[in-house]
Amino acid sequence: ARYRIAAIPADGVGAEVVAAGRSVLDALAAGSGGAFSFDWTEFPWGSRYYAETGAMMADDGLDRLKEFDAIYFGAVGWPTVPDHISLWGLRLRVCQGFDQWANVRPVRFLPGVLSPLRAADRAELDWVVVRENSEGEYAGFGGRNFAGRGAGGEVAVQSSVFTETGCERIIRFAFDLARTRERRKVSSVTKSNAQQYGMVLWDEVFRRVAADYPDVETESVLVDAMAAKFVLRPEELSVVVASNLNADILSDLGSALAGSLGLAASANLNPERAWPSMFEPVHGSAPDIAGQGVANPIGAVGSAAMMLDHFGLSEQAGRLNRAIAATTAAGVLPRDLGGRASTAEVTAAIIDALAD
Ligand code: NAI
Ligand code: MG
Repeated sequence: ARYRIAAIPADGVGAEVVAAGRSVLDALAAGSGGAFSFDWTEFPWGSRYYAETGAMMADDGLDRLKEFDAIYFGAVGWPTVPDHISLWGLRLRVCQGFDQWANVRPVRFLPGVLSPLRAADRAELDWVVVRENSEGEYAGFGGRNFAGRGAGGEVAVQSSVFTETGCERIIRFAFDLARTRERRKVSSVTKSNAQQYGMVLWDEVFRRVAADYPDVETESVLVDAMAAKFVLRPEELSVVVASNLNADILSDLGSALAGSLGLAASANLNPERAWPSMFEPVHGSAPDIAGQGVANPIGAVGSAAMMLDHFGLSEQAGRLNRAIAATTAAGVLPRDLGGRASTAEVTAAIIDALAD
């Protein structure tokens, strides 16, 4: 099979880690004896494109992307463009435009990586954070200049939107995922004691859906308590499902517990497959290290493995994940993991390990 992939490296280290992921996938294809191959088209969208055109992506961008089997994304954001403009103008436009409502973010311990967790707990780090990716706190609902209210000065309103359908589909997705895992458990996260409308609806839908999955263990945890639980009780978690903002924050905490933000992979899925899904590392454009050739490519390469899974190439995805683990186990570590290997060296080591 031949898979058509749209690459959008975008900003900062995005270009470096997307190049790394592409070379790993091309190496896999080269070794497949013609069983599968990847046909890449690169789009120049991002903050530089914005400086030239006044838009983060082409007007007909979604139309052009919809023909692809998947989108492989780097990271968006650069100090020359306000972050809310770059994020909404590209990444959120694709996610929401293609109704990629399930953002899947695995958190995994890798051998040879120093985790801040207690040694005995490291092996327990094997979770999937499932993030609602279409509404909630990032629904883009609100406005500015609501004059004459509140304590004074300008008043801005930022509302969350929770729909029953939106809650139900992501919660069901989490339960279905839990059934594929050794530990069949779903932990639902809200702040429904303080946010009494949307998050109470979420809790109600969670209880209702849970009744359809009597074989899956459940718990409902408030987000502040869950932050502590991530650190102190990692063995009690398997699938964690949460709203857009809460899961965004918790998954960064999860990747830090695994050792670095640079390790974390993610998939923005349109589970109905009406539109392409998008695969990207969790981290941002890292302007502080961009252009130095030292970015950790593992988050991007792990996202490529998730793309393989999405294509039904699960055996290849497993092979790639084992190659990543073999690389860290051998001590080939980039700077953010305390090592000295460059992006290119880590990538080459992963490609070498594919042969084993
Ligand atoms: P960031 O993830 O870019 O960086 C946070 C810290 O992690 C930095 O110290 C950075 O050097 C380090 N880091 C990140 N990725 C790394 C990698 N692959 N290897 C080694 N170290 C890595 O987050 P920050 O600094 O908050 O945001 C920078 C820009 O990225 C902003 O414009 C922000 O809006 C954007 N951003 C974009 C995201 C996306 O495209 N999905 C997600 C998060 C932030
Ligand atoms: Mg984030």
